[in-house]
Amino acid sequence: MMTRIIGTGSCAGESIVTNEDLAQIVETSDEWIRTRTGIRERRLTTELGTSGMAAEASMRACENAGIRPEELDLILLATSTPEYCFPNGACQIQAKIGAVNAAAFDISAACTGFVFALQTAHSFLVSGAFRTILVVGADDLSKTVDWKDRSTCVLFGDGAGAVVVKGDEKGSFHGIMKADGSRSQVLTCRARTEGNFRNGKTPELGYLHMDGQEVFKFAVKKVPECISQLLEEQQVEKEEIRYYILHQANERIIESVAKRLKEPLEKFPMNIQQYGNTSAATIPILLDEMNRAGKLNRGDQIVLSGFGGGLTWGAILMEW
Ligand code: COA
Repeated sequence: MMTRIIGTGSCAGESIVTNEDLAQIVETSDEWIRTRTGIRERRLTTELGTSGMAAEASMRACENAGIRPEELDLILLATSTPEYCFPNGACQIQAKIGAVNAAAFDISAACTGFVFALQTAHSFLVSGAFRTILVVGADDLSKTVDWKDRSTCVLFGDGAGAVVVKGDEKGSFHGIMKADGSRSQVLTCRARTEGNFRNGKTPELGYLHMDGQEVFKFAVKKVPECISQLLEEQQVEKEEIRYYILHQANERIIESVAKRLKEPLEKFPMNIQQYGNTSAATIPILLDEMNRAGKLNRGDQIVLSGFGGGLTWGAILMEW
């Protein structure tokens, strides 16, 4: 049993914020942001939030798949920015779209979340536990960044992307998931975990904190390594891959991965220019744009690969 994507949808934050807009609030410039990252603008959510964007993307994915939300039997949401500790964000989506027959839970693996969630969905389809699964990547990182810190606030945007998957006797699906918790301090965002009536500490919410250069080095090493391992294990030649759909964190990271894999940059579609890094949402948003533009044909072999906080990283080789 293989896993096939039968529909896609996406929804970005409602408000466009350009590099020039950011230059009004921190000492930066359009030129610095563009040349270091490729980002020209990003979209921030004003009203929808994580669950609102996720629900909108999910409805569009169901429509695109030609199914009713009642037909879903599981919703997996990859997010690091749920609106509540509980209920989970997937339950919020379930309620908003009326997926009354679906179980629902979240997966937390930062920017790698969608790649981990899709592999989790695949395992459930193979086991026969569920038959029609909605996999969503959604994040609202604009609520976690320090808008006075120019080294992080220019990089991120808000958005959601969703896919509906079903089992298929034909096709192929293989994945790799990796983690290195010993390097967690490179990219963190502290939750409200301190402080109770006994220890005298005040609960504080932390801002997103990142060692940019370390993350850069980690990504350009681990992503090509993991993709190469996957192709080798499955005995697939690079020439057979139609597209590498990578987490959109930085144009220079993607260019460097292409170079290390010795593959042409044309095989690495990008939309970071418009959205910035939307964390777990980057890959499904890009998939949705490519699907709706007719760029994906049945039988195309594609590689998806993500990396991020944890540290976590992973890749999927699948047939469209
Ligand atoms: N505008 C202008 N200057 C800025 C700036 C900004 N937005 N952010 C940082 N700078 C300055 C720094 O203060 C530093 O100044 P200094 O030399 O006077 O100290 C200078 O630019 C260079 O900073 P540095 O951090 O060395 O830049 P860089 O070339 O490494 O680029 C990143 C920074 C963040 C773009 C890059 O490291 C990166 O993309 N890392 C990966 C981050 C990522 O993808 N995270 C998400 C993973 S899921």
